Amino acid sequence: MATAIYPGSFDPPTLGHLDIIRRSAAIFNELVVCVMHNGAKGQSLFTCRERAQLLESITADIPNVRIETQGGLLADYVKNYEEPVVIRGLRAVTDFEYEFQMAAINKKLNCKMETMFMVASDKYTFLSSSVVRELGKYGREMSCFVPKAVEEAVHKKLSGELCKSAPA
Ligand code: PNS
Repeated sequence: MATAIYPGSFDPPTLGHLDIIRRSAAIFNELVVCVMHNGAKGQSLFTCRERAQLLESITADIPNVRIETQGGLLADYVKNYEEPVVIRGLRAVTDFEYEFQMAAINKKLNCKMETMFMVASDKYTFLSSSVVRELGKYGREMSCFVPKAVEEAVHKKLSGELCKSAPA
């Protein structure tokens, strides 16, 4: 199969994301992992460039994966591809309503765009970037949740964060 696009905010990328990346890359000739802005989420912990660098380092062993960063609408970005297939991971039924709405809106904006859902591996159904950010604030070990490079980056970024947010 041709190229697929896996968009997300990846703030930071987790082992759950990496699992979807590996499984998608095994199906498609090429997988473009695209770091984008999610307007429903607040200030991100990592810049787009930092998130892309983390993704580059954790996918370095997968030859058919390419990392990009893009602003704007996903439906516009995928116009760069002739038959755009977008991959989204589904962890639980709770993800479904939002994902269903996004897929339907994107289809309205770009009728050529197809969204395919990949069910998360059961060991990652509980995992999210926000959980990782929260654990990072408390300086917790998180090798079950993120690759080593990401763990180090989160700890580096958040070192001193608890002191800053502690009540007076
Ligand atoms: O990892 P996330 O935060 O669930 O990824 C969501 C993302 C970034 C793929 C989504 O917010 C997105 O497509 N952002 C780009 C702007 C856009 O096209 N929004 C949807 C139409 S309103």
